[in-house]
Parts: sequence; structure tokens; C-alpha cells
Amino acid sequence: MKKIVIIAGARPNFMKIAPIIRAIEKDKDKFFEYKLVHTGQHYDKNMSDIFFEELNIPKPDINLGIGSGSQAKQVAEIMIKLEEYLLNYIPDYVLVVGDVNSTLAAGIVASKLGIKLIHVEAGLRSFDREMPEEINRLVTDQLSDILFVSEKSGLKNLKKENISKDKCFFVGNVMIDSLVSTLPKLKKEINNQKYAVVTIHRPSNADTGKDLRNILEILKEVSKEYKIIWPIHPRTKNNIEKFNLTEYIEDFDFREPLGYIEFMNLVYNSSLVVTDSGGIQEETTYLGIPCITLRNNTERPVTVSEGTNQLTGPIKENVIDALNKIKFGNYNQNPKIKFWDGKAAKRIIKNLKKNQ
Ligand code: UD1
Repeated sequence: MKKIVIIAGARPNFMKIAPIIRAIEKDKDKFFEYKLVHTGQHYDKNMSDIFFEELNIPKPDINLGIGSGSQAKQVAEIMIKLEEYLLNYIPDYVLVVGDVNSTLAAGIVASKLGIKLIHVEAGLRSFDREMPEEINRLVTDQLSDILFVSEKSGLKNLKKENISKDKCFFVGNVMIDSLVSTLPKLKKEINNQKYAVVTIHRPSNADTGKDLRNILEILKEVSKEYKIIWPIHPRTKNNIEKFNLTEYIEDFDFREPLGYIEFMNLVYNSSLVVTDSGGIQEETTYLGIPCITLRNNTERPVTVSEGTNQLTGPIKENVIDALNKIKFGNYNQNPKIKFWDGKAAKRIIKNLKKNQ
């Protein structure tokens, strides 16, 4: 049996590790013995625990409890605590997903200890180094021994960075695996009022008063046609208060951050999503729901070229144009992306058994 340690830390990691753990557990040959490490980057019940319950993720073997802090503090604390854990357990592999600070920290520790590093969702690039996630992606991919790619652009990006193609495999999207297995739990509802689901938390949109005011003005425009339902990230919520912007939001329906099933159900029944998140661009594409992304770039270009996503930046005129296209049904209403089919995690385990 090979020993593998799986790392998760922040909300967007949980729906990615769930199908991988399931595929390991279902493997008839029991090729892997696994341990699950939660770094504790996200710690609130509705940013973490609820995902474990809803996605049937087993209790982590250890929670490093690092919590919030600056980029450096988070990464450094994870590194120190994880190194201690890995020196005790000594796995053959460490598997990281996505692009959060926990991904980067674990990647550095594993590769420095000479443990093979597997990166799931490798190769995505926004080409915007002001995003903390882009730094995390670049470094993690350089250090990784095995890179699993979710969309074809990933292979191209890795090639340009001189990462050997023998280490890179296009297997599809594990986050869509979670969505596919959750679909039977979602219910179509009859809505009397069209609504847009909003999520905003990128530092470039939410961390200064000027940027956040601009976003709220854009959302006011959207609210002329759609009711705004906004499960709000704790940092964005604090900033609206801190920058005295509450007057802008009187008509919006704010919710606490939602669990996975409740959030997907809200999206499933929505007419539109307005976001700056990464994963939601993919989920809306899979569901065929129009998505407006208030960013100037995306690391997930397939959602624009073949999906339902429109990149408008945080620019009101572009959003008005995008709303018009949506009104006239002028977007790909039935996208099909290769290997976004619920079987990516199975491909990953099969690949690891065959090649390693
Ligand atoms: C992190 C990821 C981002 C991902 C996002 C999803 C990095 C660099 N960023 O950003 O890619 O899209 O998660 O949510 O890793 N907080 C709470 N409760 C929690 C967690 C956070 O209140 O359980 C608040 C704290 O005020 C904290 C702030 O949110 O300081 C930011 O948390 P942090 O994990 O540093 O980054 P996110 O913005 O959540």
C-alpha cells in the first residue's frame, strides 16, 4: 500500500478532495492508505464543517488550526506544523488541490522533504501576479511531480513553463465531480421573481472603499432587472461596514455563507450569477447558467470560450452589455466541456495506479 496525505484548508478545496477520497476508498485494490490534513485556514462552521458533513468527507486526521492571518503568516505556520506531521508519518505522496495558501505551503514542505507532490487542478493561469492565487499556482506547479489538469489550457500553460509533459495529465474537473454527484439533491423551484446570485471576495474588488463602492454600484444596476441574493464572504461583509457603504445595499438580500448543497441549489434556480470567484465560473458553465465575472482575467478560459461566462471586469458599461446579451439568449446555452463528467477523480486514481 502506498501512503498518501491529502491536504485541504479553505472552502474551495473541500469539494475537490471529496471525490478523490471517495475514489481512493472505492478502489478495489486498496492501492492507497490515506491521511487527511486540514490546515485550518478556514475554520467557521459555514466556511468549513458544513462541507465535510454535506460531502461526506471523513473527519481530518489532524487539523493544524492555523486560522486567519497575513499571507506569509498563514503559509509559514502551515509549513512548520505540516513538516512535523509529515516527518512522523512519512507518506509516499502529498496531494494538494487548487490554488489557496494551504496548497502552496503544503507543496513547499512536501517537495523539500523529497515526498512526491501531486497537484490537482494544475496549469490554470490568470497571468495576473497581483492575485495571491496566481503565485500559489506558479510555485506549486514548478514543484509538483505529477500534475492533473482540469481544462486543456492547463496543458498549454505548463508546456510554456517548461514543465515536462510526461508529468502532466488532462483528467478533467474534480469540482464538477462533486456537482454531478450532488445534482440529484438539487430541486427545480418555480420562482416568481428572477434573481441573480452574487459572490464577491477578491481583494481587488473588496478590499478598498473605492473598489467596493464601484462593485456595489454595478450590482445596483443589475438589481434593476434581477433581485440580488448575496451569500456574503465574511471579509466583504466586514469591509462594507468598515467603509460605510451600507446605504448602497438596502435592496439586496444578504445571506450568511451557505453550505454546498444550499448554495448549488440557489445557483441551479437562478437566472444569473455575478461573481469574482474561480470555481463558480465552472459550476455555472456546467449548469448552463449565465455568469458575469467582475474580473479582467480568468484562469479558466474554457468557461468563456465554450461556456456561459462573460468577463466584464469591474466595469459598469461592460456589465450592461453582458446583461443585454443574456437577455437575448446570446450565450452558449448548452456547454459541454471535455472530461467535466463526474469521473475526474476516478481517472486520477487510475492514472496513479498505472504510472507510479
Ligand atoms: C481564500 C483563498 C481564495 C478562495 C477563498 C474562498 C488564498 C490566498 N485565498 O481566500 O483563493 O477563493 O478562500 O473563500 O488562499 N474568515 C472568516 N472565517 C473563516 C475564514 C476566513 O471569518 O472561516 C475571514 C477572516 O476575516 C480572514 C478573511 O476571511 O482574515 C480571509 O480569509 P483567508 O483564508 O485569508 O482568505 P480568503 O479571502 O477566504
